[in-house]
Amino acid sequence: MVFRRTSLVLGGLLLASSAAAVEDIPALGLGTWLSDRDSVPHAVEFGLKHGYDHIDAAWIYRNEDQTGKGIAAAGLPRSDIWVTSKLWNNAHRADEAHAAIHETLSRLGLAQLDLYLIHWPVAFDPANSDSRHPTLDTETSLVDTWRTLEDLVRANLTRHIGLSNFAKRDVETILHVCEICPYAHEFETHPYLQQQEFVDWHLNEAGIKVIAYSPFGNTNPIYKGHENLPPLLKDSLWVGLAEKKGATPAQVVLAWGLQRGTIVIPKSTSDEHLLENVAAQKITFTDEELELIAKHDKKARFSNPSKQWGVQLFADLDDHIEVDVVVDEL
Ligand SMILES: NC(=O)c1ccc[n+]([C@@H]2O[C@H](COP(=O)([O-])OP(=O)(O)OC[C@H]3O[C@@H](n4cnc5c(N)ncnc54)[C@H](OP(=O)(O)O)[C@@H]3O)[C@@H](O)[C@H]2O)c1
Ligand SMILES: *[C@@H]1O[C@H](CO)[C@@H](O)[C@H](O)[C@H]1NC(C)=O
Repeated sequence: MVFRRTSLVLGGLLLASSAAAVEDIPALGLGTWLSDRDSVPHAVEFGLKHGYDHIDAAWIYRNEDQTGKGIAAAGLPRSDIWVTSKLWNNAHRADEAHAAIHETLSRLGLAQLDLYLIHWPVAFDPANSDSRHPTLDTETSLVDTWRTLEDLVRANLTRHIGLSNFAKRDVETILHVCEICPYAHEFETHPYLQQQEFVDWHLNEAGIKVIAYSPFGNTNPIYKGHENLPPLLKDSLWVGLAEKKGATPAQVVLAWGLQRGTIVIPKSTSDEHLLENVAAQKITFTDEELELIAKHDKKARFSNPSKQWGVQLFADLDDHIEVDVVVDEL
């Protein structure tokens, strides 16, 4: 991992080895949501210098400029880093989406993204897009927005496009119409919300990679609900597995995410945690251990703004909230 970048000096010519370029999305990335703005440049630079080669950003995290500083300070060739960003709900219309990706690219200091996601399957009216009580844009369908993202690939502004927080039926809608099809779907999944069937469907049938967000479940300090559950990293199952493998609970949780074929994107702004998390990649589980973990699914979802936005999210998935929806947004 550390010596991934190799180069050959031939007759005075420096040739970057083709094996160094990050072609497909790396299995472990660095999350940046709720990362304190002042800490972001250091965390991103430190991460990139210590084995991370994938950053998960978003326009709405309001720290893409700071993330860009960290990327620049690390000084790596662009092709050695994978950068994902996301289109916010207020910019689903074509003109807004073009402006939004340009803003994201300029803040990150990049000419092109590796992956650009529709952050949520919900369009806000750009004129009233306050996240606490937005007005929905019922004119712009998810298919319209997907067409816009396809144009962003054609314009060479991103290499790949994808989805985030979609219900299964909405992924299927996009699969039916796509000319450039989703590369990945980023959604909440962790030991307390395993969604194994949904994960397997993406990997085995839909041909879409799965990016597991909030891999530490209820560790994210703003998550509420399911207060009956212990903090995931203190859960006796995971503490026990960690002891057994001579690792930390965070490391075994991430290693499980990797072994089931998902891409994990833990957030941290702590040097110690960054090093701990990137070292999770060596741990493996037996079939018996995987079966035990599967039995401990709690179907507990922590990220769900359905009520706040007046939209039925995750309709066909575990632990959704029933919301009366007047207009079907597709
Ligand atoms: N697409 C979406 O809608 C969406 C939604 C949610 C999240 N995401 C993405 O997914 C990323 C990760 O999800 P998340 O931020 O919600 O939660 P997370 O990564 O599961 O958990 C983050 C929390 O864990 C702590 N932590 C990190 N490493 C640790 C370790 N080794 N031991 C103990 N604690 C540790 C962090 O604190 P320290 O910083 O102090 O280490 C932070 O409080 C986000 O940052 C974002 O990029 C996307
Ligand atoms: C697309 O953008 C990348 C990065 O800026 C650049 O290297 C490449 O030449 C561009 N390709 C085309 C066809 O313009």
